[in-house]
Amino acid sequence: MQHFLTPAFTARLGGEPTLLVRAPGRVNLIGEHTDYNDGFVLPMAINRAVWLALRPRPDDQIILHSLDMDAPTIFHLGQLTKEGEGWGEYVKGVAWALIQAGYGVRGWEGVMTSDVPIGAGLSSSAALELAITRAFSATAGWDWHAAEMARLSQKAENQWVGVNCGIMDQMISAAGQADHALLIDCRTLATVPVPLPHGTAVVILDTATRRGLVDSAYNERRQQCEIAARFFDVSHLRDVSLAQFESRAHELDPLTRRRALHIVSENARVLAAVQAMRQQDAFELGRLMAASHASLRDDFQVSNDALNTIVDLAAEHPACFGARMTGAGFGGCAVALVQAEAAESFATAVAAAYTARTQLTPQVYITIATAGASVVE
Ligand code: GLA
Repeated sequence: MQHFLTPAFTARLGGEPTLLVRAPGRVNLIGEHTDYNDGFVLPMAINRAVWLALRPRPDDQIILHSLDMDAPTIFHLGQLTKEGEGWGEYVKGVAWALIQAGYGVRGWEGVMTSDVPIGAGLSSSAALELAITRAFSATAGWDWHAAEMARLSQKAENQWVGVNCGIMDQMISAAGQADHALLIDCRTLATVPVPLPHGTAVVILDTATRRGLVDSAYNERRQQCEIAARFFDVSHLRDVSLAQFESRAHELDPLTRRRALHIVSENARVLAAVQAMRQQDAFELGRLMAASHASLRDDFQVSNDALNTIVDLAAEHPACFGARMTGAGFGGCAVALVQAEAAESFATAVAAAYTARTQLTPQVYITIATAGASVVE
């Protein structure tokens, strides 16, 4: 089997790989911080991915080289132990979660590379987890159930790596569909593919800012949502309608009220966005994205100056239907819905204006919706 990873595979491991796996990163169009509230999200898998070429081994060893990192990850499936914080822990964590769930696993060796930027909020970790999960499924021969594999990948990240993420990133990397965003009900993991409005393009704008304390701020938001859910006497804020929220909002302390308002209104915006997409209404979708950003900025308070600046600059451009921060926040990327034929000029103009305003150089990706984790050959 010959493809772009074959020479690297041969140089490191000898011979040729027998399988090629791809698992994408993602961008979320709308529905932010709703996943851990059992709510709705509308992400799409993007044309940036982890690629993994591999070959089964006769024993229980995993040998994985990354073209982007120094040392290979090497371990035995029968002896899983945590060692530090490196990318190899994601590989081990996935093996651990699969074994815990009763899946048969066997050894394999491979070479991987990724063009999902790390730490930018485009889910490079989920892409890695799903590529590894797909590799275990293909080598051990059991069927691929996207939602189940997403859950186990999330478990690996929560319990082995120790990052308290929701289900969105793993789910879209597992179940993405070409040319579609995916409405995900984060309670049932039911998915509905929704096509983008005709003539639109999705542009990702990386602010080139990162904030170190994302994890603690993220966990704090989760706790605030749990407090609000307890107040409304429900397991998750998903179960609170806007009308219910409004009837009792005055009883809440101001901070909890804002946090809950974001979640309750954002869930409604996701469902409205799906309607707008079905009606080919790019203007309404853009309006909902802008409203989502305002809510994340003012009520959930997870934006930053760079994100607000790039979102404002994007929104001022005549080709833009709407823009918002995307992902956990506190830096990273914004997403914009624009007229497809003007996507290049939009990208150039917004990048230049952003640099002029901030002295920062943004990365801009005009992206398309791709399929979720798959065996390519
Ligand atoms: C991160 C988490 C997701 C989700 C988003 C916010 O990407 O990994 O589970 O909570 O933040 O929507």
